[in-house]
Amino acid sequence: MKQFAVIGNPITHSKSPLIHQTFAKQLNIELSYTLLESEPDQFKQTVDAFFSNGGTGLNVTTPFKQDAYEYANQTTTQSKIAQAANTLYIDDGIYKADTTDGIGLVTDLKFHNYSLTNKKILVLGAGGAAKGAILALIEESPHSIVIANRTKSKAEQIVSDINVNNIFASGLETIEGDFDIVINSTSCSITDDVPEMDTSCFKHISVSYDMSYKPHVTSFNQYVIKNSHSNVKTIDGLGMLVEQAAESFLIWHGIRPDTSQIRKLLREQ
Ligand code: ATR
Repeated sequence: MKQFAVIGNPITHSKSPLIHQTFAKQLNIELSYTLLESEPDQFKQTVDAFFSNGGTGLNVTTPFKQDAYEYANQTTTQSKIAQAANTLYIDDGIYKADTTDGIGLVTDLKFHNYSLTNKKILVLGAGGAAKGAILALIEESPHSIVIANRTKSKAEQIVSDINVNNIFASGLETIEGDFDIVINSTSCSITDDVPEMDTSCFKHISVSYDMSYKPHVTSFNQYVIKNSHSNVKTIDGLGMLVEQAAESFLIWHGIRPDTSQIRKLLREQ
């Protein structure tokens, strides 16, 4: 039986085993999928041991996404841009890494019948989560993307790395422009916080997407509702979590599972 795991620290809260086991059951695939905790400075040793004991693939979460990227011999363009990976696996003796977070986000938006084509996108935050998503957003042919971050230089760095002409960087104090959708990739909602920022850019927002998820409407999504003049549809990151897992599953098993059952199960929880 092929062995998979999710590695992180902390890791006990992870929903990845339930998600992958549900996919496997649905498709009659036998696998084992467990939690793997590593000390922050022991990533390489823990992963070495996992693969030398016959492991096939790992999902990777905080704080190891960059370590996973560096561990691999072969990486995708997405993971190069992100300098991070959430999917690490061995294939023909080669350690390969990919990041499926961006495609997970875009697929979740499509699940909600939202197309990014020709849309004016505002991305808040310029950390690992933003870097992991940016290429997938560009591939949807939006009108433009503004990346706004508290530390503006980090947004400027992403824009310069990507080097396409409809992506711009901004700080948070003044954000120029009108936007159709805002995507929050900052870590604020984890602590029920919101970024201190120019909220006038929320005026015409019709979709607010928070990469975090909570049992309640996230603090960020509430913030946008409060500051928007239009009817805002809010989405949290639970669907993105499921869709990124489905993409990892596709890489490993060559088949993309249906995600509706696990979406429903996680919402009920
Ligand atoms: P992740 O991998 O989840 O993206 P990260 O790389 O540590 O985590 O990035 C966190 C992001 O949230 C950064 O863009 C950070 O802004 P800075 O680059 O200025 O640090 C942003 N962030 C965190 N707390 C914030 C706050 N209170 N207000 C605004 N932005 C915040």
